[in-house]
Amino acid sequence: MNLPQASSASPAAPATVPTPLVRPRLTFIGTGYLGATYAICFAELGYEVLGVDVDAQKIASLASGRVPIHEPGLDEILRRNVAAGRLRFTTDYAEAAEFGDVHFICVGTPQRADGLGADLTYVEAAVTSLVPHLSRKALIVGKSTVPVGTAAWVEQLVGKHVPTGVEVEVAWSPEFLQEGFAVEDVLRPNRLVFGVRSAWAHQMLLAAHKGVFDLATTEDREVPVVISDFATAELVKHAANAFLATKISFINAMAEICEASGADVSQLARAIGYDDRIGKKFLRAGVGFGGACLPKDIRAFQARAQEIGAGEALRFLHEVDLINQRRRTRVVQLAADLLDRPYGPAGPDLTGFRIAVLGATFKPATDDVRDSPALAITRKLARHGAQVALYDPKGMANAQREQPDLEYADSMVDAVTDADLVCVLTAWEEFRYADPKALAGVARGLRVIDGLNCLDQPLWTAAGWEYRGMGRPNPA
Ligand SMILES: NC(=O)c1ccc[n+]([C@@H]2O[C@H](COP(=O)([O-])OP(=O)(O)OC[C@H]3O[C@@H](n4cnc5c(N)ncnc54)[C@H](O)[C@@H]3O)[C@@H](O)[C@H]2O)c1
Repeated sequence: MNLPQASSASPAAPATVPTPLVRPRLTFIGTGYLGATYAICFAELGYEVLGVDVDAQKIASLASGRVPIHEPGLDEILRRNVAAGRLRFTTDYAEAAEFGDVHFICVGTPQRADGLGADLTYVEAAVTSLVPHLSRKALIVGKSTVPVGTAAWVEQLVGKHVPTGVEVEVAWSPEFLQEGFAVEDVLRPNRLVFGVRSAWAHQMLLAAHKGVFDLATTEDREVPVVISDFATAELVKHAANAFLATKISFINAMAEICEASGADVSQLARAIGYDDRIGKKFLRAGVGFGGACLPKDIRAFQARAQEIGAGEALRFLHEVDLINQRRRTRVVQLAADLLDRPYGPAGPDLTGFRIAVLGATFKPATDDVRDSPALAITRKLARHGAQVALYDPKGMANAQREQPDLEYADSMVDAVTDADLVCVLTAWEEFRYADPKALAGVARGLRVIDGLNCLDQPLWTAAGWEYRGMGRPNPA
């Protein structure tokens, strides 16, 4: 077997291997935020695509041309490609096996209920549902974020379940798309990582991404490709997310220092961000990171490191997690301070106050509320007795599903009406550019917590609001 070496620029495949297929047919197994976006965008790139999921409702929605998530631009591309006949959806694994040459595994890998590690049961179910139906040579490509060692384990699973005489190979290609920018990230990735064990798998992956390379060529761009072994490919994703989480927690730790010393973390971040070695991105202090990736990935990374005897190397990620959690508590402390309530060992008693929470999603431009700091803080405020009115431009349905007991408002103004305190916890443009004078006309108390340091503080202060930011001194 010809094991490709790590490379970093050219997508060229080894010349000695015959081209397997110019345009393989692709399946994307698991049509959530990752898989649906991929299926839709790869159909747009000209591939014949089949999306597969166990959720019949999701499949029916996609098949009818309706994206079940909020992702800017995706709806229109879905409708176009379903109409063109390039894109179909199914819950039938036999159909998927018959259709596909390359099968991308895009199912969830959430945190296990009994610990910090990743729950791989969905990966196992996807592989063991597909493989017994395969009847010709195929490539299974993991895209889900997984602990190091998973690809080798998937290979073993395949070996156990594959019909006699059928050859199936495995590869791993971690995914870096960001919700809210997912269409762009899939069509124009800033890099591709292929973890492969054979030249055939390498070449199949190149063929499966030919549309991405062709688009780049027409736009005079290059897409860097890193070819690696399985372990490196798996680790790339955990390492990238560990770095990003650490950067966010770093600036939030600086926010804590600023709070204790009277300094302003926004100015501090600007000043250090001018250094190219540090950079401005991901350097905004606030309520911390959330979503379906960073929190569970840094925990799974630590758990796996412990299992393989390298736990000490990632002990700092525990601190990163703790700093992140403390930011959520900080908002409750600020609320108690603004509402003049003592903060005892059980936290403040906020009974009798109405608090408007603006934002439920873990960031703007998505409807995803999984491990959202905004929702977690809302829960805390409600648990401390406050009457909370929550509003989010796109995340209401998901928030209501996750937290049915909270009170939901129909609009920003409805939420703020009669509120004693307003908390901005997701940096949606609607909130960032809200008119503080108009909101002052409907609120009962003019107090605002800017959980993302995203408001124009002088403007809010001039409109009469008592303002609190994260890691910033109170305005005079
Ligand atoms: N969401 C992101 O921005 C993002 C970015 C990079 C990587 N990832 C990784 O991608 C993976 C998927 O994330 P997501 O956010 O799309 O999750 P998701 O929960 O939105 O989607 C997972 C989908 O898999 C389906 N599924 C579960 N079991 C199945 C099975 N046996 N067969 C077929 N389908 C099945 C579910 O019904 C669901 O639709 C995770 O490992 C995640 O860490 C996500």
